Amino acid sequence: MWAIINDPATQITLVVSVIMIAVMVYVIKYVAGHMQKSSASVPAGEQTFDGIAEGISPTPVGLHFIMGGLIIFFFWYIFAGYPIWTWTQEGQYDDEVAAYKQTFDETWKNADENTLIAMGESIFNAKCVACHGYTGEGQNGMAANLVEYGTEKHISKVIRNGSKGLGYLTPIMPPQAPVLEVLFGKENLEKNISDAAAYVMQLSGRTPAHGNPAEGLIVFKAVCQTCHGPEGKGRGPGGNIPNFSKDLTTYATDVDVIRTLQLGKKGDIGIMPNFAAEGTLSEIQYRAVAAFVSTELHN
Ligand code: HEC
Ligand code: HEC
Repeated sequence: MWAIINDPATQITLVVSVIMIAVMVYVIKYVAGHMQKSSASVPAGEQTFDGIAEGISPTPVGLHFIMGGLIIFFFWYIFAGYPIWTWTQEGQYDDEVAAYKQTFDETWKNADENTLIAMGESIFNAKCVACHGYTGEGQNGMAANLVEYGTEKHISKVIRNGSKGLGYLTPIMPPQAPVLEVLFGKENLEKNISDAAAYVMQLSGRTPAHGNPAEGLIVFKAVCQTCHGPEGKGRGPGGNIPNFSKDLTTYATDVDVIRTLQLGKKGDIGIMPNFAAEGTLSEIQYRAVAAFVSTELHN
């Protein structure tokens, strides 16, 4: 409880309160003392009303000092005090949150994978379920289905329908099915999509269960490489433009989830908030929620 006294705002309030109480007690005593003295007399003015004259005592000197002091304080506060002493409640709040995050990250910096996942689950419950739902399936299309996110099924959907809203230099990935149909024939569309999805799985270090990644590579080189780059790192046709499009070598891994949270996404489904702008997650919390999304939710 006494820890509160460490706070400068509380200290100032306390000191001012004590001074005010002392002044009040003094004034009450002074006034009460005067009222009791029958000899106290005030010179009468000229105006009378029914024999009652207006008193013309001068204003107490103290009041002049208080008034003058207040005026000086007013100018000092507006022109010097406030601009120089830039304390604000929000600023203090931000500082305290930043300090807390640092202690939090310091405490958990060596947390093992299981601890991170457990922590990630509670962050997910607090921050993500409102849109993605308790099961992570996106509540019937209200938000992305995170159970499917990163699976061949999801990649196939992306190839078919395109994607947008992550803020890369290429603002949208248009639906690729029409391109594939023109290049490889309508009858091969399903197989081409499935193989390309398998290749993306392999690119990001996972084992595809359905398509054939070797054949997917042919599709990738013909169609996807223009934007995702020769190595799939999202660096454009020559592989040398940063942020040209999405890096598929980390697709749906922790890195990717963290990047998505920090970028936000204004896509076809809806708007995913930008957690970096919101500033509520600490570094360990990003890692924890990403670990939860990229492991637990997928299985
Ligand atoms: C015209 C450029 C372009 C082409 C061609 C392209 N992509 Fe993309 N791709 C992008 C961009 C840009 C993004 C990031 C979109 C966003 O902001 O959500 C992206 C995102 C993705 C994603 C992640 C989407 C998500 O929301 O999870 C996958 C997977 C993907 N591309 C695979 C492919 C595959 C496979 C091909 C080839 C069949 C391909 N892309 C062709 C530009 C392209
Ligand atoms: C206000 C609702 C909302 C909240 C809160 C929210 N999301 Fe999302 N999220 C979305 C929507 C909507 C999309 C789909 C955006 C689109 O493509 O249209 C999405 C997409 C995603 C994607 C897929 C991005 C891609 O590249 O396809 C991931 C991963 C994700 N969210 C993770 C999270 C995590 C983790 C949290 C909690 C820390 C979270 N989201 C909180 C609405 C939300």
